[in-house]
Amino acid sequence: MRFIEAFSSLVAVATLAQGQLTRINDFPGTPTRLQMWAAVPPKSFQGPHPIVVAVHHCQGSAQGYAGNTRYVQLGQQNGFIVIYPNSKSGGGCFDVASQATLTHNGGGDSQTIANMVKYAIEKLGGDGSRVFSAGTSSGAMMSNVLAGVYPDVFKAVSVYSGVPAGCFAVQGATATQDPPGWANNCANGQLIKTAQQWGDQVRNMYPGYNGTRPRMQIFHGTADNTLRYPNYNEQLKQWSNVLGLSNPRNSTNTPKSGWTRSIYGEGNEKTAPLVGYSANGVGHSVPQQEAMDLAFFGITN
Ligand SMILES: *[C@@H]1O[C@H](CO)[C@@H](O)[C@H](O)[C@H]1NC(C)=O
Ligand SMILES: *[C@@H]1O[C@H](CO)[C@@H](O)[C@H](O)[C@H]1NC(C)=O
Repeated sequence: MRFIEAFSSLVAVATLAQGQLTRINDFPGTPTRLQMWAAVPPKSFQGPHPIVVAVHHCQGSAQGYAGNTRYVQLGQQNGFIVIYPNSKSGGGCFDVASQATLTHNGGGDSQTIANMVKYAIEKLGGDGSRVFSAGTSSGAMMSNVLAGVYPDVFKAVSVYSGVPAGCFAVQGATATQDPPGWANNCANGQLIKTAQQWGDQVRNMYPGYNGTRPRMQIFHGTADNTLRYPNYNEQLKQWSNVLGLSNPRNSTNTPKSGWTRSIYGEGNEKTAPLVGYSANGVGHSVPQQEAMDLAFFGITN
């Protein structure tokens, strides 16, 4: 018994030293009980370190999404902290429907994730001026919400197959219900608003905020049957309004055959404030482009 205990604690230390994703047991999980998993870069990297929050899809988990994406390995190679929040709900989705989560410090999942960033800055050597989020599906919806609700925390965000921030709002949904609220009309691509309305919805998530807004990179497949394709254009309408941009420069077959890239505002695909990628014929699982995310975040060249 004692031998086994000693052995497992040795394994735990060794695992941490290799920079594997580890559950942060003393993160209090407030206000909504999400678990925090994280990996810190090797000691050879001088801090403070950029922070990338990677948010999983429904039926997903922190460990599962870490296995399907390359942010942990890239964090080890490029010197950034990764945080993988873990959903508390049975179906593994994040709450992007309640008024609580759609409000700055409103007591929802978005606030719990912002608290993970705070923890990483205070206890893991994170750099509060270089905080980013990337997510898939439910995690993409959450990343859009984080951009809207915590523009003071996140500098840039990359979303794979999501919906506009606030599109999933469900009347009466609570921050603690399981499963979280689900908005069929939005998922089905039937919730269409003007750019001004989408922009107002974001501005109302943090009334009075007048600082810089996060830069946005948005991926969507035209054959998405889960969060349908009209949500791509609705996201571009929302963020072009929030960021005060219009008239994108479009390039077909970029960076892949069948993909169309739209750059809004000044700069190239790595530096512009808003960049969209429409993937022709691709379904709900747009392949993760981790290297493009890091370049867009300014972590790599
Ligand atoms: C908006 O700007 C004013 C003046 O700079 C500042 O006092 C105020 O705190 C800002 N509001 C928010 C919510 O950041
Ligand atoms: C460029 O792409 C955007 C986003 O899909 C679209 O709204 C816009 O109409 C396109 N512009 C042109 C000139 O095709």
